[in-house]
Amino acid sequence: MKIELNENKVFLENQGLKKEIHPFWLRERIDGKDYIDKITQQRLFDPTELKNNIKIDKLNLTDGFLEITFNDGTYNKFSIENILKEFINNNSTQNIGKVKWDSSFKISNNFDFEENIFEKKSMYEALVHFYKFGFVIFKKVPTKNNFIVNFANSIGSVRRTNFGEFFNVKSKPNPNDLAYTSLPLAPHTDNPYRNPVPCIQLLHCIENEVKGGLSTLVDGYNVSECLKKDYPEYYKILTETKVRFQFIDQSVILENWSEMIEVDQNGNFKQVRFSPRLDFVPLIDKEKLELFYSARKKISELYNSDKFRIEFKLIPGDLIMMDNHRLLHGRTRYDANEGNRFLQGCYIDYDSTEGKLKHLKRELNI
Ligand SMILES: [Fe+2]
Repeated sequence: MKIELNENKVFLENQGLKKEIHPFWLRERIDGKDYIDKITQQRLFDPTELKNNIKIDKLNLTDGFLEITFNDGTYNKFSIENILKEFINNNSTQNIGKVKWDSSFKISNNFDFEENIFEKKSMYEALVHFYKFGFVIFKKVPTKNNFIVNFANSIGSVRRTNFGEFFNVKSKPNPNDLAYTSLPLAPHTDNPYRNPVPCIQLLHCIENEVKGGLSTLVDGYNVSECLKKDYPEYYKILTETKVRFQFIDQSVILENWSEMIEVDQNGNFKQVRFSPRLDFVPLIDKEKLELFYSARKKISELYNSDKFRIEFKLIPGDLIMMDNHRLLHGRTRYDANEGNRFLQGCYIDYDSTEGKLKHLKRELNI
């Protein structure tokens, strides 16, 4: 990738393809001290107030810099490296490729909590692990009540919901959700009825004295890719049908219409939603419904099968951070008479983890 000039035009040459860079694109990136605040990197001018017919009057390429005088009289010396950076996008979490996994996955890479971990390389590595596998476990996290909120706010900001800033997971009388019982919980994603759905769930184990109550995880990304390969018709209908997810209690009614497998504009995996006690398909054609019900049954079988699920026990001090748009989670049954099982959870969104990852990359020069 390189910059080339031809008359008063700037071109980007990339693998034999040559494209002109719009002069306005360069003009609005003028970075002299009169144009950009050096601390915030925010513009000191409003580009929408510039005239549209920005052109280049004078151009010179020397030693890693591009000197341009524009037809509105402004001059700037651009670093070629900075211009090329905009096309490489090497700072994105999308470049950390997702690694699909199934029941053969062995959890090995845990991260010990330590003083000031949020500014250390181990936090950077933990976040990379999170983006690869969809979850990461921190060990030896202080088992103080409500510590989960400090932890979450040290990465980014807690996403508060109608359950509060955080929630306690233990059996309680008259629960408004099955999570607050000792019943087994089949693999599901949390809160598909919210818009937007919370991106990341944090769960902190404070006490766990029971034999059962194992945590379960399933890689929804892997399952949906398998469905796409082996049952393309099922995959198609689950990516095309918006269903109504709903939550109702005494104080609120939450609804969101979404696909059970959501893909982006290029057809790539974006998000799974699965919570079969809360989903309501609209009354579409009978043939389509027939296909939808078969597809939902199949994906439920896959999510619940031994082939994809891992099971492990969270012990006091463990804190798991999991991608609620990619993974399904659940737990096995436990006997509340055996002792206490007490977890605290909260949500954060992707801007927290992405922002932290990019910050640590910059600070640690990685
Ligand atoms: Fe859950």
